[in-house]
Amino acid sequence: MPAYAVIGGQWGDEGKGKVIDYLCENVTMVARYSGGNNAGHTVLNASGEFKFHLMPSGVIWPQVTPVIGNGVVVDPDVLIQEINDLRARGIDVSKLQVSDRAHVIMPYHVRMDQLEEIGRGQDALGTTGRGVGPAYVDRVARSGIRFGDMLDAEGLRDRLALAASRANNTITKVHEAEPFSIDELFEQCLRWRDELLPFIAPVEERVREALSRGENVLLEGAQGTLLDLDHGTYPYVTSSHSSVGGACAGLGIGPRSVAGVFGVFKAYTSRVGAGPMPTELNDDMGELIRERGGEYGTTTGRPRRCGWFDGVASRYGVIVNDLTAGILTRLDVLDGFDPVRVCVGYELDGKPLEGFPAQTRALEQCKPVYRNFAGWHKPTAGLTNWDDLPAEAQTYVRGIEEIIGCSIDLVSTGPHRHETICRKPLIP
Ligand code: IMP
Repeated sequence: MPAYAVIGGQWGDEGKGKVIDYLCENVTMVARYSGGNNAGHTVLNASGEFKFHLMPSGVIWPQVTPVIGNGVVVDPDVLIQEINDLRARGIDVSKLQVSDRAHVIMPYHVRMDQLEEIGRGQDALGTTGRGVGPAYVDRVARSGIRFGDMLDAEGLRDRLALAASRANNTITKVHEAEPFSIDELFEQCLRWRDELLPFIAPVEERVREALSRGENVLLEGAQGTLLDLDHGTYPYVTSSHSSVGGACAGLGIGPRSVAGVFGVFKAYTSRVGAGPMPTELNDDMGELIRERGGEYGTTTGRPRRCGWFDGVASRYGVIVNDLTAGILTRLDVLDGFDPVRVCVGYELDGKPLEGFPAQTRALEQCKPVYRNFAGWHKPTAGLTNWDDLPAEAQTYVRGIEEIIGCSIDLVSTGPHRHETICRKPLIP
């Protein structure tokens, strides 16, 4: 059963969009399974630059069916906008499938996300403000609206009356803000239904059919393992399972279908939003990485926090995803740095910490222990052959393999599809 998952190994923004575009050649389906339009995947190829928030990154390939699984929360306005933008650029989106079990991000979820962040004050999580967290809260509270609900107008009216009254209660009583009109929300849902009706489908069956035919299916992770609701740096996480476990639940497939799990790691670390980041560099070096890497959020434009590669956190990502291969991106950003450093352990109060701690305070207060690697002075940008990489860059990649306990089979040396070094084909 040839499903292959592409998972962010760090705090998101590892370059999964480019990797998915690269891997799509022999793939017929690309399926998102978690997150919402908090994600921002950039793809740069012969057709130009694309920034996707909901649309699976493989949509540009004509043979690919893009799928949005039940584990994704979808803001219909954002999806409709992406569909229209792609159509305007001549991309065929007619094969898109949106799960009838996927939850809708309602306008009140977006408002609640923003009000909750204000309420947290100094402890704000730095969410993307897109309503993702509150939509997942409603899903777990069994008060969500699903795309399938939109197919039955009468049933929808009843569900919406319940769901929106609940949201209005919180908005007016807890946040003392203006309630939403249930009638207007209902009309809005009908407009969304009219636009999205051709795409709503029982996608688990479609995925199953593709897998049964022996076609390769990519499971497109969003965010990264360290933002996973359970395995990330809780509470500074997103509200879904971005690690590989989320792929089965978020698409309705069994683990036996997953033939490979590929973890994408940036050659350094970045993080956007609040929360611990042991290797963060609040100095000129951090600034240099940010500027060289253009590290500004695709979704919010916020400057990303930057630092050295964190081998401890990344090794944890290898373990919880049981990675079969690693992919290292943005190696070229480190061209000319000397030394290049990798965190190989954490110390707290002068004592070594074991593994990647669950406690926020330990992560905030620990000191990274670094191993220095000699830098390389010839550019790696755009290289496509392993043998052309400077010896020091090869040593750096091999060092990361050893530290995280996973082979690096693909190295990305630039944003374009062809700027990739393949050491071992990932999809047979
Ligand atoms: P939320 O997912 O909008 O609730 O935000 C929760 C945390 O996850 C915040 O720190 C966000 O900055 C972070 N986050 C969410 N999506 C992404 C992403 O795609 N890349 C990087 N960080 C993200």
